[in-house]
Amino acid sequence: MEHKNTVIFTLLFSLAMTLITLPSPTNATSPSVSALFAFGDSTVDSGMNNVLTPLVRCDHPPYGRDLPGHVPTGRYSNGKIATDFMASNLGLKDLLPAYLDPKLTDFDLLTGVSFASGASGLDDLTLKLSHAFSMGKQLEYFDEGVERMKRTVGEKNGSEIVENALFVISVGTNDLILNLYEFPVTERKTQFTSTDQYSEFLLQRLGSFIEALYRRGARRFMVAGLPPIGCLPLQQTVGGIIDLRPQRVCVTQQNIDSETYNSKLQALLSSLQTTLLPGSKLAYFDIYSPIMDMFNNPAKYGFVETDEGCCGTGKVELGPLCTRLSPTCPDAAKYLFWDAVHPTEAAFFAIADFALKTVLRYLVAS
Ligand SMILES: *[C@@H]1O[C@H](CO)[C@@H](O)[C@H](O)[C@H]1NC(C)=O
Repeated sequence: MEHKNTVIFTLLFSLAMTLITLPSPTNATSPSVSALFAFGDSTVDSGMNNVLTPLVRCDHPPYGRDLPGHVPTGRYSNGKIATDFMASNLGLKDLLPAYLDPKLTDFDLLTGVSFASGASGLDDLTLKLSHAFSMGKQLEYFDEGVERMKRTVGEKNGSEIVENALFVISVGTNDLILNLYEFPVTERKTQFTSTDQYSEFLLQRLGSFIEALYRRGARRFMVAGLPPIGCLPLQQTVGGIIDLRPQRVCVTQQNIDSETYNSKLQALLSSLQTTLLPGSKLAYFDIYSPIMDMFNNPAKYGFVETDEGCCGTGKVELGPLCTRLSPTCPDAAKYLFWDAVHPTEAAFFAIADFALKTVLRYLVAS
């Protein structure tokens, strides 16, 4: 019953969001996005972690095998990720580089970078476990980047770039996985009586992060919700072990948790929009629906495998466990997941395409 209510709420909310986000009928206005800046975790990291501990890195083969030049850039996939497709769609560039990419030029910075760090999260305890770049650290790098842009094009032009940029934030999955799901006893499980309560704690921190960007001049935000966490190959594996179940199935409760979090996120975004951040545009970036659709209708996307990743056994390998020694599937385009957690380039394309058809045009219109 509880679940049903959540589903209905989500549907109504999505409908409401769709109605207020219909693209404007005029196509005379040319897209006016100056740059794309990404923050969050591995879903939008394009190589920030290459300077960190090997535990959170993926700048080794077979990662990146389907990128131009087959370079393992630090993207958690076989090829491009959603923010690459978006940057390309906005006419900015084909690949959104990491801010710490040693080859990044002053000129590259002007059209956007990613500050996101794989294994990062909103909760300090997540960072204590993963040692990724925290959201606070990502913000510090952003401030440094803005200074660099202003030195390049002047104070006024620098501020205009920030004002006309699209800010993509994607974070939260690691908080739930590391603090609630994977370990039987954790500090957060003791502290919070329900997943709902923990989600509210996370969303409060996400709200503060958005406000911090707003105070720095950011006006256009696209904030991702959670994927169906219970369907990630790793979660199917862990769930099977806990339940002593031989077959692989999605962990229903974790998907319900994701949906609840996503509903609360949408409510947060509309309240931020109306009360706190005048002159801003905030849109919910729904990644749950396209991923669920890929699960339910794999053929529509050309997929033959949705429960296991392409790398290794597809059940547990990611990061340092997915290596050049791991056997991989010959054609990643037939898989929803590249490793035990991260989508393939084909799936990222579908996610970006869904964003394009739903919210991107609303955010881009001036
Ligand atoms: C700022 O942008 C304008 C318009 O593109 C350009 O003409 C001007 O040279 C820029 N200012 C600096 C300091 O680069």
